Amino acid sequence: METKAETLILFGATGDLSQRMLLPSLCALDAEGLLSDDLRIVGTARSELDDGSFRNFARAAIEKYLPDHRRGSMARFLNRLYYSPLDVTTPEGYEELAKKAGSEREIAIFLSTAPSLFKPTIAGLAAHGLADNNSRICLEKPLGTDLQTSCAINDAVAGAFPEDHIFRIDHYLGKETVQNLIALRFANAFFEPLWNAQHIEHVQITVGETVGLEGRADFYESAGALRDMVQNHMLQLLALLAMEPPSSFDANCVRDEKVKVLRALRKVGPEESVTGQYRKGAVEGQSVAGYDEELGRESDVETFVALKAHIDNWRWQGVPFYLRTGKRMPERVTEIVVQFRSVPHSIFPGAKLKQNRMVIGIQPEENITLSMMAKVPGIEQDGMVLRQMPLDIKMPDAFTGKFKRIAYERLLLDLIEGRQTLFVRRDEVEAQWRWIDSIRATWAEEGRIPKTYAAGSWGPSKAIALAERDGVSWHD
Ligand code: BG6
Repeated sequence: METKAETLILFGATGDLSQRMLLPSLCALDAEGLLSDDLRIVGTARSELDDGSFRNFARAAIEKYLPDHRRGSMARFLNRLYYSPLDVTTPEGYEELAKKAGSEREIAIFLSTAPSLFKPTIAGLAAHGLADNNSRICLEKPLGTDLQTSCAINDAVAGAFPEDHIFRIDHYLGKETVQNLIALRFANAFFEPLWNAQHIEHVQITVGETVGLEGRADFYESAGALRDMVQNHMLQLLALLAMEPPSSFDANCVRDEKVKVLRALRKVGPEESVTGQYRKGAVEGQSVAGYDEELGRESDVETFVALKAHIDNWRWQGVPFYLRTGKRMPERVTEIVVQFRSVPHSIFPGAKLKQNRMVIGIQPEENITLSMMAKVPGIEQDGMVLRQMPLDIKMPDAFTGKFKRIAYERLLLDLIEGRQTLFVRRDEVEAQWRWIDSIRATWAEEGRIPKTYAAGSWGPSKAIALAERDGVSWHD
């Protein structure tokens, strides 16, 4: 579907995501002239606001979260906004919402509410003519806590919307640096011949965060690092990195290839996962409390996980993918390391050849570094002296004048314009959950308790051992 929505309805319009991401992103799109003149945005939530007070609310959020130079004419943006109060679990209010949305208009619906409200919301939308062929729906995570609950959500949505009208968000796919993985792999000729088990020894994906619980105790206690970060963001990174070349950038072509990778993930063995929970320590020079202290009680929820994953297909047989993510790590960094194999035979006796390695920095900065061996200049009588040299690309320097966008800008525009490539298809989500559930089942069987680690470290020492056993060091 590539028709443009004429109305965007935001459920959860007064919530945290709306304030920090959605309203600022929409304002930024408007400032750049990317929204049609007649796009109307209708916010809804339980708070009893009217159009005027919602506009004031939006102005405050934008002033707080969107840099001044990106705001454009705020008045024009605010004039697009309307508000209709609604308790999604009762029938009252839907009619008013439908009236504000405009029944003849093409509608995009964004649900950023608790998933427990998805079902009643969809029923209310369907009963008031808002779930028909002229509407599409966008869902925020968490889409369930396991395969079963995720299927229940997907079934409820599928009861009212066909799959090509359902847009599941993984905000990592909205990051330009993540999209650049697709460009690097498929707009350059030299990667593809090397991108396989014959030439790549292993891959590491790290998503380190310095933040802790951030006041999200209820949510985090029902998730933990595996479900919060690996099930979605890290598996999407892995799928983009490992997929076969799609025949086009079309939504189904790309997602067909990603889902094949996700389905080929081998069940993780008991010795192939490490969990951790942070204790007090220091992050970026500040002392911080332990997870149990922040929570006010003991808990078995992991704030760190490291995994050794395998993709059982021809391309990746024998190539381990080491994944790790954690809260209260020493730095905020998302990066991918691709370690190439040694040259098959060295003609430099005495020289210690280091393997080529490509490091793709996703955030906070996008840098690509390729380490290669080179001759140290000089005349040597005993043969060449070689040293590892970096070939460095600093993306911000390469593209000066370009600013960083909020990931939701791309995703909201694609939702409005009906492009699904950067949204997750049902079969992908389910393949992701199947693998995650099998890991959790192993943990449950063995009664796994996370190891502790000091805040500001790279997780428990067992995580280092997980890689070192194979002669691999994490890239810190
Ligand atoms: C969210 C998780 O999906 O992603 C958070 O729920 C996490 O716990 C966040 O902090 C990380 O996103 P980003 O864009 O800051 O890397």
